[in-house]
Amino acid sequence: MSSPPPPDVGAEEERGAADGGGGSLSYGEAEYWDARYVEEGGAPYDWYQRYDALRPFVRRFAPPASRLLMIGCGSALMSEDMVSDGYVEIVNIDISSVVIEMMRKKYFDVPQLQYLRMDVRDMSMFPDESFDCAIDKGMHSFRWNSGLIDGKWCGVDAPLSAAQMVLEVDRLLKPGGVFILITYGDPSVRVPHLNQSACNWKIVLYILPRPGFIGNIKRHVLDPVPLTERGRLPDGFVPEDPDSHYVYVCKKMQGLTGTGSPTVNHIERQGEE
Ligand SMILES: C[S@@+](CC[C@H](N)C(=O)[O-])C[C@H]1O[C@@H](n2cnc3c(N)ncnc32)[C@H](O)[C@@H]1O
Repeated sequence: MSSPPPPDVGAEEERGAADGGGGSLSYGEAEYWDARYVEEGGAPYDWYQRYDALRPFVRRFAPPASRLLMIGCGSALMSEDMVSDGYVEIVNIDISSVVIEMMRKKYFDVPQLQYLRMDVRDMSMFPDESFDCAIDKGMHSFRWNSGLIDGKWCGVDAPLSAAQMVLEVDRLLKPGGVFILITYGDPSVRVPHLNQSACNWKIVLYILPRPGFIGNIKRHVLDPVPLTERGRLPDGFVPEDPDSHYVYVCKKMQGLTGTGSPTVNHIERQGEE
């Protein structure tokens, strides 16, 4: 299975997706993605990072025997690369029927890969606690913060959509399972939504420079970035690459917090991994 390099995607476009913007059609709408995939003619396209850069996290938190859910898979090569790396069962979902059809045809002879058209906010066809790991790389088409743009759900309803997604992922994961979220969103906009009162995550944050970044990175890739009590980056912390990607590894803990309060008790301190 081949793995050509990703196309050159501008950080601004990627940020646009992360923010939920997208011109007249929104990144949160199936029609936008259907049209885009028709236009691209099924060409593979990996947003943000390729599997080789994410492999240290994925291998560490989800062994190859894991049953894995790839959320908003798009036309990325990530799942194919994971199968080449020994993963045995990856269920890929996407809201775009166009890309799901393309991927089904492409991988019809790869039994480790399944492709289903599904909205991440309603994955009711899967039973509770049926996955070991869920990965979201650039899927979050919702405006996770509460900015209102045009009244569409990428705006006013977006926090609700983000909450629905997080609750669904939490429901589908086995206790001890992990949700790996790769995003442009820094902790101030992601941690509050991850810490739903009905969930009990242990969150560890990593920061990855974008591919091709030339600069001196002081941390080892698997060194977690400490978070404050409120789940924010420490004062004065600036990633070496301003266009870094944030990798949240959220482990599903047993039981509820019972507090309904955001973040505080759930943030894994550096070194406690
Ligand atoms: C920016 S692309 C990322 C694709 C892929 N994960 C990658 O890393 O290259 C976002 C993908 O999320 C899908 N998507 C958007 N909203 C969705 C939703 N509510 N449920 C499932 N998939 C969704 C889109 O169709 C699109 O394929």
